Amino acid sequence: MKRVVVLESIHPDGVTALQRHYDVTVCLGASRARILDAVTAASAIVVRSVTRVDRELLDRARRLQVIGRAGIGTDNIDMAYAAERGIEVITVPGGNAVSVAEFTVMQILALCRNAYAIAEAVKANDFRRELYQGVELSAQTVGIVGVGQIGQLVAQRLRPFGCRLIGFDINPALRDRFAELSVQWMDCLDDLLQRSDVITVHVPKTAQTTGMIGARELALMKRGVRLINTSRGGIIVEAELLKAVQRGHVAGAAIDVLVDEPPFHALSEQVNYTNPLLGHPNILITPHCAASTEEAQRVVALNLVEAMVKILAPGTRGRRRASVAVGAKR
Ligand code: 3PG
Repeated sequence: MKRVVVLESIHPDGVTALQRHYDVTVCLGASRARILDAVTAASAIVVRSVTRVDRELLDRARRLQVIGRAGIGTDNIDMAYAAERGIEVITVPGGNAVSVAEFTVMQILALCRNAYAIAEAVKANDFRRELYQGVELSAQTVGIVGVGQIGQLVAQRLRPFGCRLIGFDINPALRDRFAELSVQWMDCLDDLLQRSDVITVHVPKTAQTTGMIGARELALMKRGVRLINTSRGGIIVEAELLKAVQRGHVAGAAIDVLVDEPPFHALSEQVNYTNPLLGHPNILITPHCAASTEEAQRVVALNLVEAMVKILAPGTRGRRRASVAVGAKR
């Protein structure tokens, strides 16, 4: 029986489905040494965004045929080396997109209405509502950076709020789609940055997008802008964001993704994590949980397992592609 090692938490129905076909080891929150040990006999591994599937790990996993990525982002995987080794990488791009879009809209509204600050103040018996006057989303111009699958779902969900939507994407083929979504096409990122009251980022992490919003770009934004990042840590340069919030140029930021993320499995007393962003009251940090819903995790896990079973079936070796994106069936 082939061995599959699950290195990050996926929906339990996915684990059960895997167990019907394979000898499954679930290895959550393990040390790097334990992970490297666990993968040596694995035909397949299952990861999310945390596990570094780098050359070191791939060299230890001599029998590896498939990397199942229960989600969309592959920046934690050495895709080039996996391809060189003939290891197929399976992703499920659509599976968690709705959850990420919903979470994004929630954070946009939370920033516009100071929701987290109000909740904290009230818990401390402070009911001075005049301190927390917000702004109407209907009066805002929302800039969507990256109008792919998730950016489009965000646009659809924002439309009924009546806000003005503008977008920027490097893919010119999306221009017609922008029109369908009533998102105004911006010819360059700078235009979007200068016109938006709220900016939400939905781009993959690549050499081009890393640091794409730094000191210069933050300075171009309107004073009082609100920023949301549910894509990847490092797209917005963290140190520059902190400075911009400290000087009041950025009114608030909701950041679900960090360059260095804390361990997600550890208990609070075991976590010795520091990040200067955590200290600022106008920066809302969440633990990369935009995709963490029952529905998304179940769809992602079941679609991933279905694709893994097909690819790992006897006789499919030699017909492999480097990476496969599975259309999520809900
Ligand atoms: C993704 O890339 O699919 C999302 O960022 C979610 O990542 P996660 O699977 O680690 O929650």
